[in-house]
Amino acid sequence: MAVIPVDIAGRPYEVRVARGLLHEVAAQCGIRLRKTRVPIVTDARVHVAWGGTVAASLEAAGHEPRWRILPPGEASKSWEGLAGTVDWLLAEGVERGDHILALGGGVIGDLTGFAAAIVKRGCNFIQLPTTLLAQVDSSVGGKTAINTGAGKNLVGAFHQPALVLADPLALETLPPRELRAGYAEVVKYGLIDDPAFFAWCERHGPALLAGETEPLEHAITQSIAAKARIVAEDERETTGARALLNLGHTFAHTLEAETAFSDRLLHGEAVALGMVLAARYSARCGLMAPTDAERIAGHFAATGLPHELSALELGCDGPTLVEHMRHDKKMDAGTLPFVLLRGIGGAFLARDVALADVAAFLDEELKR
Ligand code: NAD
Ligand code: GLY
Repeated sequence: MAVIPVDIAGRPYEVRVARGLLHEVAAQCGIRLRKTRVPIVTDARVHVAWGGTVAASLEAAGHEPRWRILPPGEASKSWEGLAGTVDWLLAEGVERGDHILALGGGVIGDLTGFAAAIVKRGCNFIQLPTTLLAQVDSSVGGKTAINTGAGKNLVGAFHQPALVLADPLALETLPPRELRAGYAEVVKYGLIDDPAFFAWCERHGPALLAGETEPLEHAITQSIAAKARIVAEDERETTGARALLNLGHTFAHTLEAETAFSDRLLHGEAVALGMVLAARYSARCGLMAPTDAERIAGHFAATGLPHELSALELGCDGPTLVEHMRHDKKMDAGTLPFVLLRGIGGAFLARDVALADVAAFLDEELKR
């Protein structure tokens, strides 16, 4: 088992990575589960795939699993989903020292984490991530949120989990498209500050996506270690280090908004294309070699991820896309910070990007 410490001041915790962890949830959580009843939030698809495994482990240890099963999909990360979950936790008599389990992808982790942050001004929770995206990104670092009519993740809190159990076996039931989308977030760590890891992705990405165990586990532990290092340095995104994790995300959120956060473009797919756009824009600004930007696009092409904006056939222009950016939650006194690249592994925060220039660039990409 790989154990990765997340050294957040005052609230350190571990991420454990091993095949089969969901089969031994009770033993892994140990005395954190201090009562017979254990509240678990999940979604209906994950419940079908893994609910029985988790329940069997808890019941064998004398616990009674108490389930809140939400509809799968982004729509559950809403005021309604939050209110229902909070009311349910209160009805279950959850106390601050209890641990709520979040079994699922980023939607369940973000929602449960936010509910845990506000019930009784803060309960404990444990992340049991079941998507690649959740294992390598959203379950670690304590960002929790819901969506509102005004946009994605606009209401939330920083609330760190007490423990994260990442079981690569859980990914065997994940649809291939979801696995690929999560892989974009793996590649992100190489592009931010680890060119050797990006080169490793180029060599092993296709095998990982074909379900080979060794590269998949290597990618998960490497990614979590990178994320743990960054959030320990800058938990609340104040120094700029954590902001680099938003590489590709400003473009991605715009594309998700333009496609109405639908299945047309999954979050990870939008991030892959967003990172290509960030790289090509960096090249256009003379910051990186165009050949390196095309190397990134080439890797996403080789792994079946979106890499050409024109292929989305959005039917809109650059200024329309930039209009979405004006509602980005990172907007700060009229400027929008962008994560750009001075080469593969050379991410940095640019605070002087002119949105009109981005609109012109996107016009070119839409016609490419
Ligand atoms: P998701 O939670 O919607 O899961 C994707 C789909 O896979 C769902 O239909 C789910 O039911 C299904 N699924 C999950 N695990 C499964 C399994 N093992 N077997 C079969 N089906 C399974 O999506 P996601 O991609 O995991 O997460 C996306 C969310 O994460 C977004 O809301 C995004 O904003 C958020 N996010 C948060 C952070 C953060 O730092 N908190 C970071 C990145 C993304
Ligand atoms: N996923 C971005 C972050 O955790 O900061």
